[in-house]
Amino acid sequence: MPRKIILDVDPGHDDAIAIVLAEGNPEIDLVAITSVAGNQTLPKVTYNAMRVATLVGSQATIARGAEFPLMRKQLTDHDIIAGSVHGVSGLDGPVLPEPSMELDPRHAAQLIVDVVMEHEPQEITLVPTGPLTNIALAMRLEPKIVERVRGVVLMGGGYTQGNATPAAEFNILADPEAAAAVFAAEWQVTMVGLDLTHQAVATPEVKERIRAIGTPLSQTVAEWLDFFGGTYSSVWKMPYPPIHDACAVARVINPDVVHVEEAFVVVETQGKWTYGETVTDFLGAFGEPFNNLVATKLHFEGFWDLIVDAITRIGERQAQQSTSA
Ligand code: BDR
Ligand code: CA
Repeated sequence: MPRKIILDVDPGHDDAIAIVLAEGNPEIDLVAITSVAGNQTLPKVTYNAMRVATLVGSQATIARGAEFPLMRKQLTDHDIIAGSVHGVSGLDGPVLPEPSMELDPRHAAQLIVDVVMEHEPQEITLVPTGPLTNIALAMRLEPKIVERVRGVVLMGGGYTQGNATPAAEFNILADPEAAAAVFAAEWQVTMVGLDLTHQAVATPEVKERIRAIGTPLSQTVAEWLDFFGGTYSSVWKMPYPPIHDACAVARVINPDVVHVEEAFVVVETQGKWTYGETVTDFLGAFGEPFNNLVATKLHFEGFWDLIVDAITRIGERQAQQSTSA
């Protein structure tokens, strides 16, 4: 049985590739896509989510979520990184199709609650790859979702580094209070943070493999990687761009691709210099019970095999549809 997931996204190039992976992998049933302001404003990321869903022929229900963080002032393009990383549209690069679907009228938090409660216990996994505002709102709207979901596998945080500040990763810093609530709740949170995702880099060989698939989608993904690679090298001086968000989906598909360890994780919400840090205790120094799984090691080949396979399958599906049309 494929694993049913809700992807909560702020596309974003790597969010877009997470959608491609979720849609193209037979082990995943992408039930819903929800948007949250993060890499760009809410209208932009919602539009991007719909365009990417259209590109891959997704049947997922799509809903618009939170426009602002719970408590803090929103990070803006100017004072932080996202606009310079994902472009003015939030998904700069190749031209994408216009959305072919309508948005669901519900708020994302309501949709998350409804989907989780309509399914059997332990059937839905939440996969957030943006700020955690919608997830925190959904928890407060219906606390029963905490015991009903199978787990939360999120991209965010890090245990040795940040990227938005030296201490904090972007998704966590964008809404630290929401993240603190999500990490503190009694569900299993798997943190797929920067220490893991920085291993998932799109090297020239990887880009070549993707281009060689030779479909319109593979061309689009390769162009996303070109754009994202350009901004990553100018903003962070990294030679190749890490495809953060797809790592969370990969963990759900195949746990062997993303190795985890148990730890106690708490989000710092008071520190002047460490606001938004995911403080991670692997050794039990705080004497707190280990409440999280933390991703540590990526199987690089296995990860890129999943991406290449998903792009290939979507291409085959689309070719079949166009011959039978
Ligand atoms: C995270 O921040 C965003 O820019 C990416 O989409 C990813 O979710 C990485 O820090
Ligand atoms: Ca993201």
